[in-house]
Amino acid sequence: MNHIGIAGTGYVGLVTGVCLAEVGHHVTCLDISEEKIALLRSGKSTIFEPGLDEMLQKNIREERLHFTTDRTEAYHGKDMIFIAVGTPEGENGQADLSYVRQAAADIADTVTNDIIVVTKSTVPVGTNEMVEDIIRSQSTIDVHAVSNPEFLREGNAIYDAFHGDRIVIGGNHEPAVQKVAALYEPFDIPVVQTDTKSAELIKYASNAFLATKISFINEIANICEITGANVEAVAKGMGLDKRIGTQFLKAGIGFGGSCFPKDTKALTSMSAEAGYEFRMLNAVLEVNELQHNKLMEKANEYSAIHRGTKTAVLGLAFKPNTDDTRDSPAIHMIEELQRKGADIIAYDPIATDKMKAVFPDLTYTDSLEEALSGAETAFIITDWQQIKEQTPDFFTKLMKRPLIFDGRNCFDPGEMLSGGIHYHSIGRSG
Ligand code: UGA
Repeated sequence: MNHIGIAGTGYVGLVTGVCLAEVGHHVTCLDISEEKIALLRSGKSTIFEPGLDEMLQKNIREERLHFTTDRTEAYHGKDMIFIAVGTPEGENGQADLSYVRQAAADIADTVTNDIIVVTKSTVPVGTNEMVEDIIRSQSTIDVHAVSNPEFLREGNAIYDAFHGDRIVIGGNHEPAVQKVAALYEPFDIPVVQTDTKSAELIKYASNAFLATKISFINEIANICEITGANVEAVAKGMGLDKRIGTQFLKAGIGFGGSCFPKDTKALTSMSAEAGYEFRMLNAVLEVNELQHNKLMEKANEYSAIHRGTKTAVLGLAFKPNTDDTRDSPAIHMIEELQRKGADIIAYDPIATDKMKAVFPDLTYTDSLEEALSGAETAFIITDWQQIKEQTPDFFTKLMKRPLIFDGRNCFDPGEMLSGGIHYHSIGRSG
């Protein structure tokens, strides 16, 4: 059992803290927001994540998990401190490391024993060295920084924490690396041990590669539309080749979320800074931007949207099973519809509150029926199960004119057509 402090209770910090407590470690999570800490102490998580609240409450009750705004309580006398603060998009797409620097300075200021600092935040190559330099230059303690990037998917984070494909641990001080590896023994997930810089790069390379797969299949979808092929058949035929793999070949309206757009830009920018132009990634980002316009282009072909057209936007989260709307393709879609003067009603089962911060004056509903009632056009942005399980009847009964533009290929075009719906999707006829 280790005593662990965690800087930052965002997605990564909170899930890491809860899961490390679950396997028996003693964890104290630190955040600057009093409000957030009060909520977490009461056993309510600040994000929607299946299974998280239950595990949070259990570990608080069993006194392995604590939340505080007090640095000394979080850092003093610990075996390890995890840095899990945000690294938002900064100037020219670079990762903004100001929160990481601050966390390192705070550790130097608070900790009196020798310490292992584990960096979970997604950070550019060289950041762990920088963290060590900051702490060494501002204190007399001995510090070893270990890179331990996070590969959790939102909506599946607890499952991934216990069943992930790998745990990456990168460090140049073997005893520190071994101590971090020992933390994860109960998880029974293969550990990949590398030097620090390679571990830092594995995270960016993985996210950028997955983003590349998505932009690639989206371009194939565009070719399918021109030639009459079907992107789903193509993806299946490609994906069964084990060297390609079936996952992340789902065509749609482009990737969003707090990671892929930010990390792809950060890797491009990191490469440029190192004097190397990562040409492919520029294209991946460009294709993604163009793909965000796809549904509107289709709607324009059919002159579907005019001033006052009653329009339902179905799904606001960047993907299902999360209330996260950061960089969601829905944002782009709503902006385009507003430009056209559409009368918009936006639906999401759980993400409306988050979207209100972006579009405070939009009309929202958490009822799918209400969104579609009397609508002339509907745009499907997130493939929520609740949307996918509907039949053509459901739409024809509620909508005034059943015209649907589906950015996630939720339905079979033939069934929609025979159900009386004018249905347009991505990379398929129909
Ligand atoms: C992603 C990675 O998958 C995680 O491994 C990583 O830990 C995380 O970023 C992170 O860096 O923290 P996440 O952002 O939760 O996880 O979402 P994904 O499930 O990867 O989806 C990202 C976007 O790609 C979504 O907008 C999704 O709709 C889109 N997508 C995904 C597609 O358009 N097609 C696909 O085939 C797959």
